[in-house]
Amino acid sequence: MPTATIITGISELTTNDAELGRLADAALVFEGQRISWVGPAREAPAADHRVDLEGRAVLPGWVDSHTHLVFAGDRTSEFTARMAGRPYTAGGIAETVRATRAADDAELAANLRAHIAEAAAQGTTCVETKTGYGLTVEDELRAARIAANEADEVTYLGAHLVPPEREAEDYLETVRGPMLDAVAPHVSWCDVFCERGAFDAEQSRRVLLAARERGLGLRVHGNQLERGPGVELAVELGAASVDHCTHLGEADIAALAGSGTVATLLPACDLSTRQPLPPARELLDAGATVALASNCNPGSSYTSSMAFCVTTAVLQLRMTVDEAVRAATRGGAEALGRDSGDGAVGVLRPGARADAQALDAPSAAWLAYRPGVPLTHRVWRAGRPVR
Ligand code: NIG
Repeated sequence: MPTATIITGISELTTNDAELGRLADAALVFEGQRISWVGPAREAPAADHRVDLEGRAVLPGWVDSHTHLVFAGDRTSEFTARMAGRPYTAGGIAETVRATRAADDAELAANLRAHIAEAAAQGTTCVETKTGYGLTVEDELRAARIAANEADEVTYLGAHLVPPEREAEDYLETVRGPMLDAVAPHVSWCDVFCERGAFDAEQSRRVLLAARERGLGLRVHGNQLERGPGVELAVELGAASVDHCTHLGEADIAALAGSGTVATLLPACDLSTRQPLPPARELLDAGATVALASNCNPGSSYTSSMAFCVTTAVLQLRMTVDEAVRAATRGGAEALGRDSGDGAVGVLRPGARADAQALDAPSAAWLAYRPGVPLTHRVWRAGRPVR
């Protein structure tokens, strides 16, 4: 029998569970890697160990459903130039591709581990990451292998950009053929950067359909730099998520609202690339499911802080605190298909993975009420303390 640990002294417990809701003066019990009990402190069962949080808020660990963490190098000078007025183009991806190809496996794995650890120390307990800075069969395969050892979910993004040494149509055949064959055993998802300058709708569809035939789930980078076909394509193919959603028309919002595709918003990326902010309010009011993610990568969004994304979503995207916290936890889990069943993440209920964070605050509202102040007090992943 695994030992049971009871967490008490919880001033406010956000469960993201429809029946449990939000509890005041609550307790939580972990047994092994799972949650075994959630409820009012006065009804709590006995346990082997006790952690008293002395009046702090607890919520699910952040679920970061969009990162690009298999990379080497940084792009500080590109960022500095952008802050001086140069526009973001995805052309900088090629610089990270050069650095990533030049790095050895140990360096890539250490960099990935360091970023996941940095995120975990800030409350992130479930991380998706992508390939996409290799862009040869060999380099995409090693990125997929390295990611599969460290991340919760791995996405194949061979269709990130046409590498400078290849011709577009020929490269696409590689992406949907030998490259897909090589990475498929190591990944669960396939993504395409569907944007002018990367891949058009027809090219993206061909890659996604090949990936679906191999049994992979689908997601799309869409509508990041301008209105385009990404959202429409994601909804047409029943993708689990379409990520960015910065430039949306009314038809895009209606399509997302009428679909099972999660709109994953990446506000740190929009700020860091001086793009407009996505229409979160309109998406939510229309009934779309919204997730928030960091998009941590060295080019367009070099932050691992989900708290920063939540703060921005409340203060600048006009989301309520509840909406933003849900989007950064259960919303991410929905985008990854991990929100239900045994070991679910983004929720605190019996049977879910014991992934939780305690804030140095009496309420989750402080994430936006005290912007920029580090509030992470304790973090548990699969029942084990990571901070
Ligand atoms: O999600 N948009 C495409 N891919 C990344 C950018 C990567 C980069 O600039 O290195 C993104 O923003």
